[in-house]
Amino acid sequence: MHHPLLKFMTCGSVDDGKSTLIGHILYRAKLLFADQQRALELDSKLDAADGRLDYSLLLDGLMAEREQGITIDVAYRYFTTEKRSFIVADTPGHEEYTRNMAVGASFADAAVILVDASKGILMQTRRHLRICILMGIRTFAFALNKMDLVDYSEAVYQSVCSDIHEMMQEFPGVSCSVIPVSATDGDNIVDPSDRMPWYKDRPLLSWLEEVIIVPPSEDKGFVLPIQRVCRPNAGFRGFAGEISIGTVQEGDRIRVWPSGEEACIKEIFRLEKKVSSASAGEPVTLTLDTEVDISRGCVLTKDTRLARGTSLETQLLWMDESALIPGRNYYLKLASQNVPALISHIRYRIDVNTGRHESVDELKKNELAVCDLLTGAPLVFDRFRNKREMGCFILIDRVTNHTAACGIVRSARTGERNLTWQDLDIDRKTREASLGQKAMTIWFTGLSGAGKSVIANALEIRLHTMGKHTMLLDGDNIRMGLNRDLGFSETDREENIRRIAEVAHLMNEAGIIVITAFISPLSKDRRNVKGIIGRENFREIYLNTPLAECERRDVKGLYRKAREGVIPEFTGISSPYEAPRTADLVFDTTGKTVEECVDAILEVL
Ligand code: ADX
Repeated sequence: MHHPLLKFMTCGSVDDGKSTLIGHILYRAKLLFADQQRALELDSKLDAADGRLDYSLLLDGLMAEREQGITIDVAYRYFTTEKRSFIVADTPGHEEYTRNMAVGASFADAAVILVDASKGILMQTRRHLRICILMGIRTFAFALNKMDLVDYSEAVYQSVCSDIHEMMQEFPGVSCSVIPVSATDGDNIVDPSDRMPWYKDRPLLSWLEEVIIVPPSEDKGFVLPIQRVCRPNAGFRGFAGEISIGTVQEGDRIRVWPSGEEACIKEIFRLEKKVSSASAGEPVTLTLDTEVDISRGCVLTKDTRLARGTSLETQLLWMDESALIPGRNYYLKLASQNVPALISHIRYRIDVNTGRHESVDELKKNELAVCDLLTGAPLVFDRFRNKREMGCFILIDRVTNHTAACGIVRSARTGERNLTWQDLDIDRKTREASLGQKAMTIWFTGLSGAGKSVIANALEIRLHTMGKHTMLLDGDNIRMGLNRDLGFSETDREENIRRIAEVAHLMNEAGIIVITAFISPLSKDRRNVKGIIGRENFREIYLNTPLAECERRDVKGLYRKAREGVIPEFTGISSPYEAPRTADLVFDTTGKTVEECVDAILEVL
């Protein structure tokens, strides 16, 4: 029986013997061109001390790999046996190359994960597995390599097997086989090994030849994202794209997304030739029997449903050098669609090694997180688990044009509030440029009486005389207007700070330098502020004037009242103040002149 093309990837690091393993498969399956083989034999004479071929040389396509001894890019190789054709993506295993691995995994149907028999499952094995599963791979073979180093021991095999099965419990519905091999000697690579008679299952190559990839249950019907509308003359209107799922025939009734209009297929062209049907993977141009409004980015379907919306729950792998900060605008590309998008909230980061969920304000390169995403125009999509092609996307930085992240759609967000982020043509950069400054928020925190208002005021005067455009937001003033409905309970203080952060952010968007003077006593609230304003625009200044000094000053007479019990929940007396640990500047105003304080601040700005 002939199986369809298998696209698979290999995961492992240099030390696991990955290149040797793939090289061996290619070599033993007699897939090499004669001259390539001779070159290999000559080449390896230099390297192999005991006359054995060094199979890893076969894969040294990249110079850098040879020099550094590590694979730095995704290398795709094609080969065929009597039973099947293959494409293998060979990706580097080191953590800094997580992104290459994700790219390789996004294309593959199955993965071969190398495990060193003498070491067992490592952190990186878990990371490789998690990335593969994120990118939709559901079929795995663990190649338990270097069995020669553990005397081909069945006990070692059994013990690693049970570790692997325990690790896989987190991922139901994923199939896995464990094959004991020796990549250097070839045991269980192509032929069954007589050194491991206790292993009765298939060698690795047979596994690859026979494994059956079950498509996702929803991966049915027909899906064609439209790349281009062709109008060579007034009489012809064709819709071109590459079929991502299923088969289409002349006469089929199709549905257009997002409009919902329906029409029947009149003609199908493939490479300029008229055909009666076409299938997944083929580029086609279709004509329809009625006039419907279709442009680039629309999707044609038959017998299947897609979703349409602007609010998604996604899982992202961040790839950019600069961190992801919620609120910044990107372009999102999904199938043939290209829309503005922003991450509204990072729900949690997933530790790639352990799977633990962690709450964070930003996402750094190679980190994985579950995030809420809003698009600036309706997006047609499906959950990644239903249809890979309609559920995976990339985010592109609007300034550098680099791919900042790749991600998958976990679900359309429920409780969608029918809100769409509207992109403004005059943006922050434009406004900053016309004001000739970089907007930021200078956030003072500290006890009542620490000197926040006085120093903020003096700082604003100084910036103003330097020609800067500024705005000072001060505790009591805001509490008499915008926040007059709020008191001093923990929830009210949280809402107080949240609104102020949103206002500061808006003013920053307008290009203005904002100075704020609020006690902002709780770290969680200040962390939230940082998220709203954006870390790179935020400067935190902590006035750690001691309570005794604040109380001695007691400018407003409030400490006295608080001590008398007239004011409940007074910060420092009957309500907590949590000192920041990562402020950009910390100082005590005791015995300093206001001007000295302002000088110190201007220095860190
Ligand atoms: S915050 O805690 O929510 O950040 P904010 O800076 O807006 O407080 O307001 C603090 C100001 O409100 C103080 O400077 C003081 O004048 C006044 N105030 C009145 N009651 C309290 C209280 N219980 N705790 C702290 N400040 C109070």
